[in-house]
Amino acid sequence: MNKTTRRTVIAGNWKMNKTPSEAEQLIGEILTAVSGKSTSGCEIVACVPYVDIDAAVKAAAGSVVKIGAENCHWAKSGAFTGEISADMLKACGVEYVIIGHSERRQYFGETDVTVNQRVKAALEAGLKVILCVGELLEQREQGITSEIVSLQTKIALMGINENQMSDIIIAYEPVWAIGTGKTATCEQADEVCGIIRNVIASLYSDKVAQATTIQYGGSMNAKNAKELLSMVNVDGGLIGGASLKAEDFAVIIEAAQ
Ligand code: 13P
Repeated sequence: MNKTTRRTVIAGNWKMNKTPSEAEQLIGEILTAVSGKSTSGCEIVACVPYVDIDAAVKAAAGSVVKIGAENCHWAKSGAFTGEISADMLKACGVEYVIIGHSERRQYFGETDVTVNQRVKAALEAGLKVILCVGELLEQREQGITSEIVSLQTKIALMGINENQMSDIIIAYEPVWAIGTGKTATCEQADEVCGIIRNVIASLYSDKVAQATTIQYGGSMNAKNAKELLSMVNVDGGLIGGASLKAEDFAVIIEAAQ
């Protein structure tokens, strides 16, 4: 197992927080917080609400921070009131998009099948995907974490070829750890990220599995990031709450160096 075969990615998921002017300010604060520090050891992404994209792209232009969105629709265009297409995001200067976040699955009826459709649309538009998978608390207690996460991964990647895998990051986010302050232990995070890597090896090849970035997400913060990121199968983080505080986000970025 060799971590150097893949890139480390630290991504913030701002969720439904920040207006455009606040987004501009937060990107500025993040850039100030990381300035003068080494950032070459990881890629830095901020996934922001749709209405903040323009301000965030402008504020991050020419910097180390890349901008992502938090979802996209699977159709190119059409009668889908309230939705945004992958092409629209690309046209706004977005590089990344989160797909299949558990909050989308929980509150907005997202299924493994629609996640797969969205992944395909995003890749076709030339976006990089942060694909989220993770088990509920009762699923962990029932001892079916491996089955759930494997199934979610397999369905989400249906019809995705080996070449496209270089534009996919997988984020393991145990639902019970999101926004709860309850972090998975390093061993739990490493174990499930390893299970996901084995699924990728079975679908594609060991080479693809070793090259795929697999993040952990769920109450990652300035205090626990270093330990989580030291695990062999954990190649970065998808960070909610702590990504809204520039200083904390910068500490996590530092921990990834
Ligand atoms: P928290 O870091 O706030 O637990 O959120 C994690 C998450 O959902 C990132 O996508």
